Amino acid sequence: MKKVVVKDKTFKVCISQEKIRERVKAIAADISCDMAGKKPLLIAVLNGSFVFAADLMRELDFPCEISFVRLSSYAGTASTGKVRELIGLSESIEGRSVIVVEDIIDSGLTMQEMLTMLAEKKPADVRIASLLVKPDNLKVNLDIRYRCFDIPNDFIVGYGLDYDGEGRNLPDIYVVEE
Ligand code: IMP
Ligand code: MG
Repeated sequence: MKKVVVKDKTFKVCISQEKIRERVKAIAADISCDMAGKKPLLIAVLNGSFVFAADLMRELDFPCEISFVRLSSYAGTASTGKVRELIGLSESIEGRSVIVVEDIIDSGLTMQEMLTMLAEKKPADVRIASLLVKPDNLKVNLDIRYRCFDIPNDFIVGYGLDYDGEGRNLPDIYVVEE
């Protein structure tokens, strides 16, 4: 079993790069079936999704575009508390088909906020493509149309996902060791 140390924790391989490639190809085929001809805009949520988004997009063999966004937190007024803002989306998405590309959906709260902010921009439709989902931790009801793997509630790194900034460059997905 391949192991790595990232900062102060030891991780072991849980999903190999070969398995990832297989599943990315499979959901790319589903997306191609559903979306070819709609010229969708992929919206990849930084930072974690950049590796998945790059691999997914290269499996799509029809016209599509990509844009990268992030949700930034800033302190609002005392009354509003913490406010989050969508940054990086310069193009109009009005009337367009959008696919939000995420690395992992855990509680689902980030994705829910994302969908709310995108809806204000009046896209034709929005679908979610997530590399990983932790279904036992979901706190909101989300229609996750395209997903590569459902995983248990353990902390993972690799393939774009980080532990405190590190581990994104690992080609496989690793789970923390107890
Ligand atoms: P949510 O709002 O709880 O769905 O959180 C989603 C975000 O939490 C992801 O985009 C990741 O940045 C982070 N996250 C959740 N679980 C993990 C994990 O196991 N490893 C690394 N990051 C994670
Ligand atoms: Mg993310």
